[in-house]
Amino acid sequence: MKGRTKSQKPDLTKVDKIVSKYKGEEGVLISVLQEVQAEVGWIPLQAIQRIADALEVSLGQVYGVLTFYAQFYLTPRGRNTIRVCRGTACYVRGTKANLRAVERILGIKEGETTSDFKFSLETVACLGTCFLAPVMMINRNYYGKLTPGKVGTILKQYS
Ligand code: FES
Repeated sequence: MKGRTKSQKPDLTKVDKIVSKYKGEEGVLISVLQEVQAEVGWIPLQAIQRIADALEVSLGQVYGVLTFYAQFYLTPRGRNTIRVCRGTACYVRGTKANLRAVERILGIKEGETTSDFKFSLETVACLGTCFLAPVMMINRNYYGKLTPGKVGTILKQYS
């Protein structure tokens, strides 16, 4: 569970549609949360109550799952997710300077989303492409041998 952002009105009709599909079913809490996140982009507070009611589970159970799994977001996400690798291979090749460049250009810190909801910024332990270190990912695209100088050019492609 990550993120910290300003408010954004969630589309609860999508939540209601998903919730009604699973109403009364057992053992589907994680699936419902995953589906809501995939459709809405995050898990709005209002969705949590609706999910608990429909699946007849307590709010505590829903929050338990949300806080246990890092994949769920309780705040709105940017349309583009930037993942800067902070693994050892990337770290020794200068990931810190790249992360600082992203933060400076976008005006946000790790775990935050830009106020226009264009970008969310995260760091990850390893992107599995250490031979390209230092690496960052934007959505599904990898950017290897990254330098602070390249960061601005790459980010412009998503603006
Ligand atoms: S340590 Fe960065 S990709 Fe593996």
